[in-house]
Amino acid sequence: MTDAIDFAALTRRAVANVAARTTDQAEGTMALPVEAYFEPERYRREVEHIFHRLPLAVALSLEIAAPGSYVARTIMGVPVLLARAEDGVVRAFINVCRHRGAPVCEPGAGSRKRFLCPYHAWSYDLTGALDNVYGETTFGEIDRSALSLTPLACAERAGLIWISLKPGATFDIDQWLGDFVGQLEALDLDNWHIYERREIDGPGWKVAWDGYLEGYHQSALHPNTVGKNTIGNMMLVDAYGPHQRIVFGRKTLAGLVGKPESEWDMTGHIRLIHSAFPNLSISGVLGDHALVSQLYPGPTPDRSLTVQTMLCREKPTTEAQAAANRLFSAMVLEAVAEEDYAVGFKIQDGLASGGNREFVFGRNEPTLQHYHQWVARFSAG
Ligand code: FES
Ligand SMILES: [Fe+2]
Repeated sequence: MTDAIDFAALTRRAVANVAARTTDQAEGTMALPVEAYFEPERYRREVEHIFHRLPLAVALSLEIAAPGSYVARTIMGVPVLLARAEDGVVRAFINVCRHRGAPVCEPGAGSRKRFLCPYHAWSYDLTGALDNVYGETTFGEIDRSALSLTPLACAERAGLIWISLKPGATFDIDQWLGDFVGQLEALDLDNWHIYERREIDGPGWKVAWDGYLEGYHQSALHPNTVGKNTIGNMMLVDAYGPHQRIVFGRKTLAGLVGKPESEWDMTGHIRLIHSAFPNLSISGVLGDHALVSQLYPGPTPDRSLTVQTMLCREKPTTEAQAAANRLFSAMVLEAVAEEDYAVGFKIQDGLASGGNREFVFGRNEPTLQHYHQWVARFSAG
């Protein structure tokens, strides 16, 4: 990790919170009408204005590291193709043929020199250019240069590939990330190893996402998984525009209270979560492992899809390392699917019951206040 993250300062702040039995707080509580979680028109507007316009980190650079590699996947109903051409640049396209719309690449990842449409064998190179029209002399005159794969705005920063899902939409990734880019770069995501990737169905995206932003529920909901070694209801938060960096403390942090700083281990007692608006969370749950989560709204307001990618520092070479990876993977799955999303589905089912007209976010949930304020701001635009 680079100097962008000042571990000593964070550890100092965390120790101060622990000593005072407090947490970083907002100025007051905040209420949000429950319709924000299920009302169809609002959902439609938020998906359009937030998820289809803003840059989303849809893949890790690691997934598509070598020239010639590609990833094809459907993201929120949009068939997306990412390809790294020989020039080393990653480009994003809509994965539909410009002739009559067949996908030019089946879902998955791999490496190839061109994409050959299975329907009538038009082919495209890795920059999206139409490079061959089968039976061209019989087809009639066409302007090949106007029939490249439809591009999507795409940028690569901090080991992540950011795209906009809407053809024609543009973004300036440096402006969008601002100082947060240094925080993300400090995670050195290019130099980890992917050992597992999976998709998890969840409740509505806000119900699910709320759980990624606060530590208030750690002790109650996760006593035997991610909350086991974490101090509940204590966090540090720093905002970078709409993005947030959260710090949780391991229970060992209490042992530093009253000890001279010269004896502190500055990296061993805290864990960081980098939360990029609107749906990316990178969590360093344990030192040798990290979890990257991307949470997408589902086809209806009450469902979401989470992509989990588990990273380890090094490619496992021993059975002990492989076992540690399996343990981490199982713990994360249990915490998210059987704890967070299990309660989330129940919350979702009760939303329209009239039991609540609004939800209240505590002073100790400043991250949720921040997030929902930014959702309101972007969805109004
Ligand atoms: S649809 Fe692709 S070549 Fe016809
Ligand atoms: Fe949780």
